[in-house]
Formats: sequence, structure tokens, C-alpha cells
Amino acid sequence: MAQVLILYSTTDGHTIEICKRLEAVIAGEGDTVTLANLADKPTLDDYPFDKIVIGASIRYGKHQRLVNDFIAQNRAALEAHPNALFSVNVVARKPEKNTPETNPYLQKFLQKIDWVPQNLAVFAGKLVYPELGPFDRTMIRFIMWMTKGPTDPTGTYEFTDWNKVEEFGRLIARL
Ligand SMILES: Cc1cc2nc3c(=O)[nH]c(=O)nc-3n(C[C@H](O)[C@H](O)[C@H](O)COP(=O)(O)O)c2cc1C
Repeated sequence: MAQVLILYSTTDGHTIEICKRLEAVIAGEGDTVTLANLADKPTLDDYPFDKIVIGASIRYGKHQRLVNDFIAQNRAALEAHPNALFSVNVVARKPEKNTPETNPYLQKFLQKIDWVPQNLAVFAGKLVYPELGPFDRTMIRFIMWMTKGPTDPTGTYEFTDWNKVEEFGRLIARL
């Protein structure tokens, strides 16, 4: 039985939902899981762990800066353990952009960081138009219109393939 540490970065909470699903799958396979928010500036010394996973969502083309910072500061510890990284974004709703190799945000991010994660995943995210402020709602509707996505401002759209999330959970349990 291994201890799995999942560190996440989220703005609106969907990445936490993905982490919770991973936790349920991994715990079901017998490992113990701890979730920690990168925004709380966690220190790895505070967590006993055998495997480490980082998950982060995209906002206006980027993961939060604190994800890059955490990776830069903890590269040696990441490399010393079985590890994985996943990105959450709505571009990944498109079949041609939903793999680590084809998702432009993940590819760009990998070029920016020094760490080479052993395992990668991309999950399509969720849009809750009514919960967005007017600026973000307008911007995202425009981006969705440009990319042939849903634009109903009263709509909630979850694009996440939960089977894919669960498959990634099983992969982490096998590391
Ligand atoms: C203001 C805003 C900007 C976003 N920008 C992008 C983007 O540039 N590219 C993209 O693919 N998804 C973008 N998204 C979609 C988010 O990545 C998606 O909603 C994800 O589920 C958010 O996860 P979180 O709730 O954990 O932050 C954006 C969403 C919002 C609300």
C-alpha cells in the first residue's frame, strides 16, 4: 500500500472534482491519497508520500504561475518518486486535442518546465456560464463561438470524460 500525494491548482473547483474521482479510484485499489491545494503553498516535507501527482487547470491559455513555481522548487523530489501530471482545459473537449501529445496547452507547458513527468493526462473541463462574471462570460462565449462550442449564457457544460479520469486513477495505482 502506497501513499499518493495529489497537488492541484484550480480556479473554479472542477480540478478538485477530478482529484476526488482519482482519489476514489486510487483508494479503491488500496493506496492512501492526500489532496493538497498548491494555492496553500504546501511543503513536501509535511506530507509522507511514495507517489506524486500534479493537476492544474488552464485559464486564458495558462496554468497558474504557482504550478510552474512549485515544479521549479521541487523538481528533485518529483523526479525521485513515481509521478504524473494532468491538465484540465476545454480545448480538450475536441477529440483532436485531448491527448498529452495533441493538447497545445500541455505541450507548451512541458516545454517551459524542467521536469519531465513520467505520466501525463489531459482532461476536458467544465463551463458554468451563470457563475462567471460578465467579463469572463463574454470572453469565454466569444472563444466558444470561435471554436464552435456552446455559447448559451445560462448553460452548464461538463465535457469531462470520467472514464478517462478513472483509467488515469488506475494507472496511478499501478505506479
Ligand atoms: C475565465 C476562464 C478562462 C478560461 N480559459 C481557457 C483557455 O484559455 N483555454 C481552455 O482550453 N480552457 C479555458 N477555460 C476553461 C477551464 O480550463 C475549465 O473551465 C476548467 O474546467 C476549469 O477548471 P477549474 O475549475 O479547476 O479552474 C477557461 C475558463 C474560464 C472560466
